[in-house]
Order: sequence, then structure tokens, then C-alpha cells
Amino acid sequence: MRTLVTSALPYANGPIHIGHLAGCYLPADIYTRYKKLKGEEVIHISGTDEHGVLISLEAEKQNITPQKLVDKYYKNIKDSFERFGIEFDNFSRTSLKIHHKTAQDFFLNIYKKGYLEAKETDELYCQKCNRFLPERYVEGICPFCGFESARGDQCEKCGRWLEPEMLKEPKCKICKQTPVIKRTKHWFFKLPMLQNRLKEWLDTKKEWKDNVRAFTDSWLKEGLEPRPITRDIPWGISLPLPEAKDKVLYVWFEAPIGYISATKQWNEQRWKEFWCSSDTRLIHFIGKDNIVFHAIVWPAMLMAHGEFILPSEIPANEFLNIEGRKISTSRNWAIWLSDYLETFEPDPLRYILTSNAPEKGDVDFTWDDFLARNNDELSDILGNFVNRTLTFIQRYLGGTIPYHKRWRAKDEEMLKKVKETGQEVGELIEHFEFKKAIKSVMALAKEGNKFFDYERPWENQETRELTISTCASIIANLGILLEPFLPFTAKSIRDMICMQENRQWDEIGKFTANEGGELKDIRILFKKVSKEQIQVEKAKLGIGSAPEIEHKKEIEIKDFEKLELVIAEIKDVQEIKGKENLLNIRLKIGDEDRQVVAGIKKCYKREELIGKKVIYLANLKPKTIGGIKSKGMILAADIDGKPILLIPETDVPSGTRIR
Ligand code: MF3
Ligand code: ZN
Repeated sequence: MRTLVTSALPYANGPIHIGHLAGCYLPADIYTRYKKLKGEEVIHISGTDEHGVLISLEAEKQNITPQKLVDKYYKNIKDSFERFGIEFDNFSRTSLKIHHKTAQDFFLNIYKKGYLEAKETDELYCQKCNRFLPERYVEGICPFCGFESARGDQCEKCGRWLEPEMLKEPKCKICKQTPVIKRTKHWFFKLPMLQNRLKEWLDTKKEWKDNVRAFTDSWLKEGLEPRPITRDIPWGISLPLPEAKDKVLYVWFEAPIGYISATKQWNEQRWKEFWCSSDTRLIHFIGKDNIVFHAIVWPAMLMAHGEFILPSEIPANEFLNIEGRKISTSRNWAIWLSDYLETFEPDPLRYILTSNAPEKGDVDFTWDDFLARNNDELSDILGNFVNRTLTFIQRYLGGTIPYHKRWRAKDEEMLKKVKETGQEVGELIEHFEFKKAIKSVMALAKEGNKFFDYERPWENQETRELTISTCASIIANLGILLEPFLPFTAKSIRDMICMQENRQWDEIGKFTANEGGELKDIRILFKKVSKEQIQVEKAKLGIGSAPEIEHKKEIEIKDFEKLELVIAEIKDVQEIKGKENLLNIRLKIGDEDRQVVAGIKKCYKREELIGKKVIYLANLKPKTIGGIKSKGMILAADIDGKPILLIPETDVPSGTRIR
């Protein structure tokens, strides 16, 4: 059994935004990565959709040729996906020759089989612009709901499908003039011929997602009608008929054929293994606006053609809204991936879009939620578990992963949990339940954290090597478990513990950390996100304004020289009775002892602090805090009132001056 994964071909008329990612690219990537880890044969195919009216409209707007436009966005889109870790076996484009040829052959094939018919129709024609006005070149009043600016293909308000001639008071979108009606000839795909076969086939797909079923049911019930698959526009794939060279294939007819062309381009020899063998599962990842084409029209095209397999699964996602409003690129209500990547790492967004995926209904993305999930879940749970374990090894165990002597029952228990998580997550991914899947991975990190807390390795000398060896093993397994979801994080984990590459999914829970192995370049997995950063992002959407940094009055260097800043080592930490955020800290500067009270107890545990080298202001006037005499101050960055200690980038002796 092999799997052909596709994700909808994005239009090459603009950059990728987070709605695209949540809709299909991220789930398709997770699914493919998982299958690869299972050692199964799988390819992920997509490419840019480069024809159609949307492209020519945008090219006109930018005052460049359509070819220039699609060249620009092909590069832009491909590059964004790469940086975000969406992997394709081939990311193609529909303007390529191989696609033109494949689409034209497809047309001729079903033409010869009698599935197409030519018909004269009345269409809107703009006399000023000298052209027929297809779909999106016209705007008018929706005949169903009265919405004023309905497009020629669909009413944004009531969602009904339209034909341009159905609009009341139509206007040319380019010049705003009222178009006239003119006769023209088009080729129609005779969908009614396939109605029964489609119904029989769809009856075998009862387990498909409800949103997809609802669409197909209602379409079949209404009865299928012939659909025009040609257009009178200059930009596109010309009809392979001598009498109709000036017409092009409708973009929605040829774009899905792009899945086939892109597979051909991937491997000229092997593409048929995927497309012409009943041993292949064809899975189309799409957003809900693409359901009709993928679940009705495209399968009908494939049936008419007869040489290719039909889709096995169409896991369509619903929409992702942003801050309570529907994404609209024309109103610039969107978060562009390339903008996001200027400030943040890919994995936090991959995490948020997966744990809040629009799998069953529309969901809302908010920057506050982004901050909360990054800081409270990724950083405080997953990041913290990995970091505290590895820094413990670094600090107390000489940087070598301890060798476990004999597992205790509770260590075995933890490894069993790891194994169960691997199985559960695998099942969930197989069923396209990515939201639940990532939750289950996080639950394991949480368990690991709890285990660390409970076992108190910083106190329990005898058992600490066992405890740490178990924690390190959980982390090693997370290096695989996280790979489909957060590939950059997974890679960092594997690098830090020098884990063997090529581990497979089925090994999860069956291997331990590389005992006796050395750690390498321990780093923080997730940076905290600050309120200010979020404010900046919100301001880009027009919500509030970007924060202003409050500047202080200029000073002389001699003012700065008054500060005695030195590196100090934390030697001991005591709690202070009745003070919930204060710690009594004993420091050493050289061989001098200092006592300082710091308000950091909510963020730092005793065992994390001991041994840390911090930046210390030594000549601050002594003061009594919480009943204890405190001299000096430990410096920290302030993230919304949460202190983050400042520590030197490499190890320096305590007492070292800072200037
Ligand atoms: N370009 C379309 C969109 O962005 C999707 C095309 S999917 C394919 O909505 F079937 F045509 F490939
Ligand atoms: Zn016009």
C-alpha cells in the first residue's frame, strides 16, 4: 500500500497566510511526515495554481504580466513553505509545459468518450474593455439574498453558487460599466452522465468527515447539471481543438489535473505506480471552499477519464478566522507567513495552528492565545521539561547521560506510557485527528515534568541517575514523537542529546536515551513571547497601536561607571517564611559572600538556581526586605512582570567585572 498525499494548489496571486496553513498544508505535512516515519511509501505533491481570472486580475492590479506575477509568487510561496518546514516531494506549477500537455490530453480523452458537449450560451461582455466577463470580473446583486457586491461565481454572504448572468445589476469590475449580453460557445462537462456512479461511489465513503459528507449529499440531492469547463479569457491553457484555439480551460477543470502533472514531473517513470494502481490511497488535503470540486467534480472527471484512481480520503478543514473576523486578503485581514517568520520561529505557529485546528468547525486565531500557548504550554511544559533535565545532566552529571542500572517499576511505567502515546498519536494521525494527537504528545511532556518534580533528583542522590535516565529517555522519544508536528524542535532535541538519526515511529517507547552519551550545545527550545511583541503584531492588523519604548534621560559614561556590576555565582537559596515570591540567595563574588533577597520565587526553583552565574549589582545600598538584610541586586529581563535572569553567554569566573 502506498499513499499519495496532495494539498490544494495555492493560487499564485499572493503570499501564503496562516489560513492556508491551517486549512491544508500543515495537516498534509504532519500526515506525510508521520507516514515517512512509519517507513511507508508516501509522497506529498502540490504546486501553484497559476491560471484563471484571479491571476489576471491581480496582474492587472500590479500592472505586470500574468507570467511575471506567477513567477514572483511561485518563488515566494515555495520559499515560505520551505522555511516553515512544509515538505513536498514535488512543488510544481500549472504553467509548466508538462501540465498544459497533461490537461489538454485529459480534456481530449473525455471529449472523445462523449463526456463533453459544446453549447452556445449568453454571457456578459464588456464593450468598453472588449472582453467577456467571467466570474470574478463581474459584481452585482445576489439574486438569492440581495447582497450588494456578490461576485460572478459565488455570493460571499449566502454562499450560493452563481453564474455571472444571474447577478442583478451587474457591473464590470475593471471599468464599472454595465456589460451587455453576447452569445458565445462553451464546452460543458456532462456531469449528469456520472450522477449515478458518483452516488454509488460516495455511498462507500460514509466515514468521511461530516462537513464533506454534508456537501456531497446536498449536491447529489439537488441533482447535477452540466458545467462549463471553458472560458473566453487570454490567460490559461488553450483548448486542444482547432476550432477553439482562443478559448482556455476553466481553471477549476485543469488545476486538479495538476496533481497528476506534478507527480509526473516528480518521477516520469514512477508516477503511474501512484496514479494507476488500486494499491494507492489518494488523499486530498483541502480547505472547505474546495470541497465541491474535490468531492464531486474532480472524481467525476476521473471516472470519465477512467485510467486513474479515485480519492480515498478528502479531509477538508473548515476556516480559520483571525481575532474574530473572517480572513480577507483584499481587506488585508490576514497574517502573512513571511511576516510571521520575521519575528518568530516556525514551530510555535505550527503548534498553535495544530492544537487549535479547524477540524470540525471554524476556529479563531488570536495573538493572545498565541502568547499563552507559547509561554504556558510550549515553553513552560515542553521546553522546561527538556531544559531542566538536560541542564541537570550538564551541571550535576558531567554532561553525560547517566547509565541506568536497573529500572524501577516507575521507570518502566513511564516508558510504557511513552509507547502508548506513540500508538495513540499514530492512530489519531491516521484518522486526521491532529488536534487530539498533539494534545497527547504534550500530555507526555507534562507527565515527564511531573515525574521530575516528584522524584526530586536535586535532593535524592541515590535515585537521581535513574530518574534522569528515565527523563532523558522520554526526551529522546519526544525527538521522534514531535517530528511530524514540530520538526525543528524535534531536530534540536535529537541534536542536543546526540541521538541516532533514522529512528522510526514504531520504535517509540522501545528505546532509551543514548546512555553514556554526551550532550551537545544545550539550548532553550522556545523563547518566551512578550506582551509587547503581541502588541506589535496586533497593530499590524490595526488593533491598537504598537508599544512605545519608554526612554530614559541620556547619561554620561561616568554615570554608568558608578554601577559596580559583576558576575556572581549562586551558592545557596532559602525560602523566606510567609513570603510567597521572595528567595534569600547566597552569592559568591570571588571568595566574598553576599546575601541578597530577590523576588523570583514564582519563576525559579531552588535547584535551578544553585550554580547559576548571574549579573549582580554589587554596590546598591543595603536594605531590609522580608525581614532579611539584602545587599545588591540580581539583574533580570522583565517579561510582563516575570523575571528572566541574565546570565553570561559562556562560563566566566565569579567576580568578573561588567562594563
Ligand atoms: N487554487 C485553489 C484555491 O486556492 C485550489 C485549487 S486545488 C486544485 O482555492 F484542485 F485545483 F488543485
Ligand atoms: Zn469593463
